[in-house]
Amino acid sequence: MHVLDISWFTDSMGAGRPVAVETRHLIQDTLSTLPEGSTPTPVAAVSQYACQRRTTIENNNKIFTDAFEVLAESSEFNENEGSCLAFRRAASVLKSLSWEVRCMGAIQDLPCLGERTKAVMEEFLQYGRSLEVEKVLSNERYQTLKLFTSVFGVGPKTAEKWYHRGLRSFNDILADPSIQLNRMQHYGFLHYGDISRAVSKAEARALGNIIDEAVHAITPDAILALTGGFRRGKEFGHDVDFIVTALETGTEESLLLNVIDRLKDQGILLYCDYQASTFDMSKLPNHKFEAMDQFAKGFLILRLEGSQVDGGLNCAEGDSRGWRAVRVDLVSPPMDRYAFALLGWTGSRQFERDLRRYARFERRMLLDNHALFDKTKKEFLAATTEKDIFAHLGLEYIEPWQRNA
Ligand code: CTP
Ligand code: MN
Ligand code: MN
Repeated sequence: MHVLDISWFTDSMGAGRPVAVETRHLIQDTLSTLPEGSTPTPVAAVSQYACQRRTTIENNNKIFTDAFEVLAESSEFNENEGSCLAFRRAASVLKSLSWEVRCMGAIQDLPCLGERTKAVMEEFLQYGRSLEVEKVLSNERYQTLKLFTSVFGVGPKTAEKWYHRGLRSFNDILADPSIQLNRMQHYGFLHYGDISRAVSKAEARALGNIIDEAVHAITPDAILALTGGFRRGKEFGHDVDFIVTALETGTEESLLLNVIDRLKDQGILLYCDYQASTFDMSKLPNHKFEAMDQFAKGFLILRLEGSQVDGGLNCAEGDSRGWRAVRVDLVSPPMDRYAFALLGWTGSRQFERDLRRYARFERRMLLDNHALFDKTKKEFLAATTEKDIFAHLGLEYIEPWQRNA
């Protein structure tokens, strides 16, 4: 018995009869003879781990994944972490498919799809809509928390506190004298219109040029890398993420501070939340799942001039200011931590989660933005590139543009 590629079927359809099987029709890897009586694993088996799937920005199942995103968010607001993760995992699996789900039979063998997610999909397939999702979308608490958390610096906890006090709009918040906004929230409101609007690829490129100029004016041989969603090939993002580091370990933190100073001198630094490094290799490995990394970083808001952007700014209609505010993240790991930081900051969040989960449960290793630790050998594994890390984990290399899990 042979396992055939679909090209055999299309060739046969073209010929009007079943054609003779040729090597190019055979699915590679299943060519080797299987032990008698054994069943081959389905060739297209989808892994439960996002780091074993290739997920481009093309999403063939947006109706379902958008719905799951709403339900995940609603679970998050209700502090139901389990159900939040379940919806995010389900969405992530569907995003990896090169085909659109058209019937329930097609998803039978897919991992991470539980009863609840399947019920929602069934509603969409039957009626083109989901009552469960519509109920959430029209829920006042959901709408309000969604609005509040769209402000830079406002997390679910703060949003809930404000909602609980009876506040329902930005006006309610800004008019309430008992509310003390922190600095981040203050700037979040100040630039709300700009930073809640997506950043385009052209705008990200323009910011790349600005940061590049600043970094290399200070340290000519410094390393600057675009990371985050734009490195994964996304057309739009909520911010632009960069890694800035120096070849000489120990100088990266002052490099970052100097870059920030330079942006300030240029008059384009609208906001900066600088977090000094607390990185200490002797405190690793970190056993906490999903802990924030300890590198020096800056969460910034920069002023971007329209004249610097190819094709102009992505701005609201009728906006004639000629500039907009954009969120930019800069992180500065020491050079020998570069590969781990790059892998960690490239995302997506779901891809990172599953890399860590895979490392822990399949390889007895601990991975984070700083290092990879082998619990069996009780040693750290060195890496200078992302490929080294995938190789240590025994994973096929997944390109950045295939990590949109
Ligand atoms: N990240 C991190 N530590 C932080 C902040 C972010 O490791 N303190 C990682 C996130 O896990 C994510 C990546 O950096 O994988 C990029 O984060 P973010 O900018 O929030 O998301 P993007 O994937 O870039 O999506 P977007 O286009 O919305 O910005
Ligand atoms: Mn980003
Ligand atoms: Mn970011």
